[in-house]
Amino acid sequence: MKQKDVSEHTFTLTNNDTGESWELPVIEGSVGPRVIDVRRLYADTGHFTYDPGYTSTGSCQSGITYIDGEQGILTYRGYPIEQLAQHSDYVEVCYLLIYGELPTQEQKAKFDHRITYHTMLHEQLHKFFQGFRRDSHPMAVMVGVVGALSAFYHDSLDIADPVHRFVASTRMIAKMPSIAANAYRYSLGMPFVYPRNDLNYSENFLYMMFSTPCEEYVVNPVLAHAMDRILILHADHEQNASTSTVRIAGSSGANPFACIAAGIACLWGPAHGGANEAVLGMLEQIGSKENIPEFIKRAKDKDDPFRLMGFGHRVYKNFDPRAKVMRQTAHEVLKDLGIKDDPLLDLAMELERIALEDEYFVSKKLYPNVDFYSGIIFRAMGIPTSMFTVLFAVARTVGWVAQWNEMVEDPSQKIGRPRQLYTGHPERDYIDIKKRG
Ligand code: SDX
Repeated sequence: MKQKDVSEHTFTLTNNDTGESWELPVIEGSVGPRVIDVRRLYADTGHFTYDPGYTSTGSCQSGITYIDGEQGILTYRGYPIEQLAQHSDYVEVCYLLIYGELPTQEQKAKFDHRITYHTMLHEQLHKFFQGFRRDSHPMAVMVGVVGALSAFYHDSLDIADPVHRFVASTRMIAKMPSIAANAYRYSLGMPFVYPRNDLNYSENFLYMMFSTPCEEYVVNPVLAHAMDRILILHADHEQNASTSTVRIAGSSGANPFACIAAGIACLWGPAHGGANEAVLGMLEQIGSKENIPEFIKRAKDKDDPFRLMGFGHRVYKNFDPRAKVMRQTAHEVLKDLGIKDDPLLDLAMELERIALEDEYFVSKKLYPNVDFYSGIIFRAMGIPTSMFTVLFAVARTVGWVAQWNEMVEDPSQKIGRPRQLYTGHPERDYIDIKKRG
């Protein structure tokens, strides 16, 4: 799907100081807001746009994921997330995000096989983990190990070669669960577990995380299904902070492993993918329903840095559709695990209820986002809090890879190099140290 010029809908820009005017072309996508093309703005007017945080800026054109924040809509290649979460599986969603269409049975079997047969890590890489302290945060390990992949896989670093990109993309998707499971097991002093080719992607991930060499480990199908659905929900999300990081790193021609490592680093932040870990910490800090009003009050207090983690979103000004599916999954997993009442889930539900009735949250359109419930599910699955963002990174790798490939293949793509509004000293002469006050 490519852009359509709708030049009859130009915007006129007038400099009221000089009376000069410029016609700015408008470009229309397939759905969603049109864009005003400002690529010539500086050349023609000598002015930059100013948009810290890029609240009103389109950085690229993309046909992968569409979000309507007002309606709470999210689609991958046009398919609603709710339908994919219900009917698809993560590897099929990986195919969809990368190739743009749902696979035929033959295409899916071939893609599944290729991913399965790339899940092992270079044996030397296992030694790489040994350099970390056992108590390292697993996200620190992920950044380091993924960044190091370019030291192991020299045969897929030429980003101009589509075959290299294809091999590197497959390796990234296939190996992230192995790296994540190793990071977890290394922190416990447990031996690494090799992947099994008879298990599907999510089953294999749980197997590598939780099995022990001492006895047979049977993957719980409920947990495997829940994991697969959670991976689908986190797979891609338009030009979020970590995806934009991957794109800008890739725009310099950096190799894909380095770009994905940059994305992992960005995702780690508590305002982004680190929020799922922060939500659990917040719920434990709140402790009981009686304390909710005090924390709601703190979240509204401009002088208090406390924010309600798992609430709010740059784009969604309605319910995050993923949060709805996540809430339903939380209930299913807890029920299937026989967990009658999980005090943290009860607390989260009550917090959501109170927040959504509060004028501050309603007026600022702050709704639960994808991170609000995910931690509760992961905790019920026996996954430690420090691994929550690692799971987000595993899921989002396909989104980063798909967006990176789209960027490399985009003929209009240039190196990302924003400008600034300079507010420092005008030019001044050097002063000898003996003459400084
Ligand atoms: C993800 O971009 C993506 O797509 C990300 C993501 C993905 O899939 O890639 O969806 C994943 O990162 C989800 C978000 C996870 N983060 C959190 O849950 C952390 C808590 N949320 C906030 O930090 C915040 O809502 C952000 C970072 C998510 C969005 O910040 P924005 O868009 O920059 O909004 P803002 O900070 O300007 O907030 C607007 C107003 C402010 O008040 P005013 O200055 O207008 O008076 O809302 C307030 C904020 O103070 N506000 C909150 C709040 N979030 C926003 N107040 C209390 N608690 C909150 N959580």
